Amino acid sequence: MSLFFAMVGTHSIADQSVEEIIKGRKALFSKNYSTAKRVQSLSSNGDFDKAKKLMIEMSENYITLLGLFPENTQEGYKTESLPLIWQEKEAFNALMQKSSDNMIKLTSVIEESDDILATLREFMWSSCKACHSKYRMPH
Ligand code: HEC
Repeated sequence: MSLFFAMVGTHSIADQSVEEIIKGRKALFSKNYSTAKRVQSLSSNGDFDKAKKLMIEMSENYITLLGLFPENTQEGYKTESLPLIWQEKEAFNALMQKSSDNMIKLTSVIEESDDILATLREFMWSSCKACHSKYRMPH
């Protein structure tokens, strides 16, 4: 009985294969990229309600990403993650958390902003660069 439940039970991170995890995090980063572009176009058009929903979605995706870098996923499946991530995991996680927090901050400042693009750069796009320049392979 317990084996049966273990097999059909909730699909936790621990059950996922290395392949699923690496492909999963790549897919989530790609999704955040297309969402970020939508956030920019919606905000530029003054469609703040829709933009804010997507900001929250991005924030949540970053939290999910925190759990997608276990020790056994440092190589393979065309990962562009650098070993430095696991050498300084706390700093990496802190940057991911800050990126998530900044998306929530963005929801409260975007509407009053005088310069939409500069605000998006400060609270959204700068996170990508800050992390990639250290923790992602040149691509
Ligand atoms: C805290 C770190 C961090 C932040 C913040 C971050 N990224 Fe990344 N990103 C990574 C890492 C690490 C990879 C490599 C993942 C892998 O291949 O294992 C990556 C990969 C990607 C990829 C390639 C996915 C693929 O299919 O291989 C895209 C696109 C991307 N990021 C876009 C973004 C954008 C856009 C932002 C900001 C809105 C962003 N990332 C924010 C760390 C980050």
